[in-house]
Amino acid sequence: MGLPDLWGPHWTGVLLSASLLTVWSPPAVAQHNLDVLNTTQKSLSKPIISISQVSAIEHKAKINIYCDTNDVDINIHWLFNNVPLELQERMHLSMADKMLTILTVYREDSGTYQCEVWSPLQIQRSDTVMLTVNYGPDPVEIKLDSGVLNGEWVEVMEGSDVNFQVETQSDPPPEYSWLFPNNSVLSSTKNTLTIRAVSREHEGTYKCLVSNFATHLSRLGVVNLWVLEKLTKPHIRPPSLDPVENDSLVNLTCQSIHKRVSILWFLSGQPLLPSEHLMLSQDNRTLLIHSIRRNDTGPYECEVRHWGSRARSDPLKLPISYGPDQVNIIWSGHHQEVIEASLNSKVTLWCQAESMPGAQYRWTYQHFTWESVGGNLTIETLTWEEQGLYTCTPFNPVTQLTRSASVLVKVKDPQSSLSAGVIAGIVIGILTVLALAAGLGCFLFKRSSKSSSYLEESMEEPLKACVQITA
Ligand SMILES: *[C@@H]1O[C@H](CO)[C@@H](O)[C@H](O)[C@H]1NC(C)=O
Ligand SMILES: *[C@@H]1O[C@H](CO)[C@@H](O)[C@H](O)[C@H]1NC(C)=O
Ligand SMILES: *[C@@H]1O[C@H](CO)[C@@H](O)[C@H](O)[C@H]1NC(C)=O
Ligand SMILES: *[C@@H]1O[C@H](CO)[C@@H](O)[C@H](O)[C@H]1NC(C)=O
Ligand SMILES: *[C@@H]1O[C@H](CO)[C@@H](O)[C@H](O)[C@H]1NC(C)=O
Ligand SMILES: *[C@@H]1O[C@H](CO)[C@@H](O)[C@H](O)[C@H]1NC(C)=O
Ligand SMILES: *[C@@H]1O[C@H](CO)[C@@H](O)[C@H](O)[C@H]1NC(C)=O
Repeated sequence: MGLPDLWGPHWTGVLLSASLLTVWSPPAVAQHNLDVLNTTQKSLSKPIISISQVSAIEHKAKINIYCDTNDVDINIHWLFNNVPLELQERMHLSMADKMLTILTVYREDSGTYQCEVWSPLQIQRSDTVMLTVNYGPDPVEIKLDSGVLNGEWVEVMEGSDVNFQVETQSDPPPEYSWLFPNNSVLSSTKNTLTIRAVSREHEGTYKCLVSNFATHLSRLGVVNLWVLEKLTKPHIRPPSLDPVENDSLVNLTCQSIHKRVSILWFLSGQPLLPSEHLMLSQDNRTLLIHSIRRNDTGPYECEVRHWGSRARSDPLKLPISYGPDQVNIIWSGHHQEVIEASLNSKVTLWCQAESMPGAQYRWTYQHFTWESVGGNLTIETLTWEEQGLYTCTPFNPVTQLTRSASVLVKVKDPQSSLSAGVIAGIVIGILTVLALAAGLGCFLFKRSSKSSSYLEESMEEPLKACVQITA
């Protein structure tokens, strides 16, 4: 193929016309016409492109690009980054398309521009001009590669490395100026900053001023860093006073040095279900027990949680005071109100009342009073004189409540013969006088030492003494 070599840059157009001609012309005619074409069609000259400014600030400049050509009967085509330019609304063409005007320049207008001059048979392309549009910085965002966003704060785990990454768009690349919580300043050309092994001292607000020297614009990015310590065990603060059954409000507080943790409560090892009776404060730090019941003893636990990390308090059992409840007086295994025991038999009356803490028991018989720790009263050998109404009064020193119950103690009729009975009666009558005297003596002794606390043993002594005399 000699034709392209011979005809240089115009060969495309010529070939096109040649191929068109061959459809209807013999080769000789075609050759002739080619000569004619070569001489009659004036060759296009290369257009000269010029631009009003090669760099501009986004939104702030109007750009004119001019395509200079003296050729006539031509069309102008524009290229942007080597592909046909798509004309935007903010662009317009004038002067028979030789002038391309960008009314408001955008960052995406950065690139190369060329124009082409088209005649039906020829195309001439200009050199390129380059437009640089400076922009930004756009609104700045500071991101962390680790950590969790919690409102205004980014929380990171103590001891971890923290990488701040400033995200913005800017041309040319901006400069970064960091302001640390301790007010020290660091300038950098990089958009990243690393703090190794963070601790509480690193906590605070980090600011980064991003500046573009070309656009003369600056933007500030801000991030608040919160350093989470490794969780330590919380502690349940018990109520200042030990609660008493039916107390209207008892509150337990989960004390933790950590501020931004969630708190959960456990009752008897199970997650606590809040109710009217067991209410949690908004932040879960306080557990409010309304109208506390005796079975609200727990144990209670609270747990602080953050991320995968958690720590639970020691269990707390609430000592709830109540009672004394109903009083029972038990003799030979049964609750009794009247008992009949044999003469001279040993009688143990057991007074029982549910109470927390354990009740202090007091027995009274006629004008006599005995304190009893376990609630038992023992009559070593029952006599006629010891018949009567015995009253037990348990007292709870915390609830300050008392209750009482009585039992009537009788000597079982021996059903002996009349003579024996009469003799016995006389003997007993005499002995009774002695016994009363002796008994009074020992009760007097008893009362004189009443201020000390009595054990059951000491209380039985006076009775024993009396019985010994009567026997
Ligand atoms: C065609 O015309 C150009 C100038 O216009 C000339 O340089 C060239 O020699 C011509 N070619 C032929 C084949 O006549
Ligand atoms: C300020 O804090 C930064 C980062 O937390 C640290 O690198 C720098 O040494 C501190 N400067 C002073 C003066 O404490
Ligand atoms: C809970 O108890 C603490 C003291 O133990 C008290 O300061 C606080 O006000 C109580 N809260 C409520 C809601 O009763
Ligand atoms: C409070 O406790 C409940 C469970 O009882 C839990 O679902 C909730 O997330 C907790 N709220 C806070 C702020 O810890
Ligand atoms: C405690 O007693 C009440 C009734 O007085 C009952 O409704 C409640 O379920 C009991 N709670 C527990 C933990 O046993
Ligand atoms: C609590 O209320 C119940 C029912 O009213 C009562 O039986 C009980 O004795 C009360 N407890 C105290 C310690 O007052
Ligand atoms: C009281 O007496 C009962 C029955 O006689 C006995 O089971 C109990 O252990 C006694 N209590 C004390 C504290 O001695």
